[in-house]
Amino acid sequence: MKKLMTILVAGVLAFGLAACAKKEETSTTQASQSSQVTEVSSSDEKPEGTETTEADGATSDAQTSATDASTEATTAEVTETAAPHKEVLVIYFSATGTTKDVAEKIAKIEDADLYEIVPAEPYSEADLDWNDSDSRSTKEQNDSSSRPSIGSAQISLDGYKKIYIGYPIWWGEEPRILDTFVESYSFDGITMIPFCTSGSSGMGRSGKNLEEHAGSGTWLDGKRFGAGPSEDTIRSWIEDLE
Ligand SMILES: Cc1cc2nc3c(=O)[nH]c(=O)nc-3n(C[C@H](O)[C@H](O)[C@H](O)COP(=O)(O)O)c2cc1C
Repeated sequence: MKKLMTILVAGVLAFGLAACAKKEETSTTQASQSSQVTEVSSSDEKPEGTETTEADGATSDAQTSATDASTEATTAEVTETAAPHKEVLVIYFSATGTTKDVAEKIAKIEDADLYEIVPAEPYSEADLDWNDSDSRSTKEQNDSSSRPSIGSAQISLDGYKKIYIGYPIWWGEEPRILDTFVESYSFDGITMIPFCTSGSSGMGRSGKNLEEHAGSGTWLDGKRFGAGPSEDTIRSWIEDLE
């Protein structure tokens, strides 16, 4: 009888302990579930019926601005990469517009970029008077070491494969400012094509002079034009180069 009572008491105790353990397990699970729910609702999903506070609005505005800024940055990057320069460049110096006209026609035909060599000190009419032995242009052309300064911004030649370089003939040669220009750049890996305009003289040694002063690049013979050549004339010259 005593033995039976002991077994019964032990059984009741065991059941009670098991029930307690189960209850604790359930409450732990509930606590952890409830903490997970809290986490989700505290991140970005607002519980229904939650009013948007000013602070929330400000955060949202800030986020929108940040998104806008990042979109703008992306757009700027895209714009930069979407507009690379062309493969061909037309460089020219023109005192009275004749060479400029030819340069623009070449750029149109070749779908090329244009770069003007602008003197730091512009040439006045008196400077260009070749009948005056004392004029600026006459003195510069009489001095082969003269290097007039360039006022236009430096240009990067990276990526250009072919460059046309144009100028007027002054006293049978290239104006000295062309020497200033070619001595300032490297034309490695670039095909250089000189062209010039004149009243009647040919290119003379001007193309060779530029090649020597440049010291780099592959220089073609080039071509002399009169005033206002037609696009057809220029196009057929370009086609013959290829
Ligand atoms: C200082 C100077 C010297 C010139 N020397 C010559 C020359 O030796 N031979 C020639 O045929 N034309 C000569 N010209 C005329 C120019 O080469 C010609 O008008 C040229 O097309 C002008 O080009 P631009 O308008 O682009 O400056 C000279 C012009 C100037 C201003």
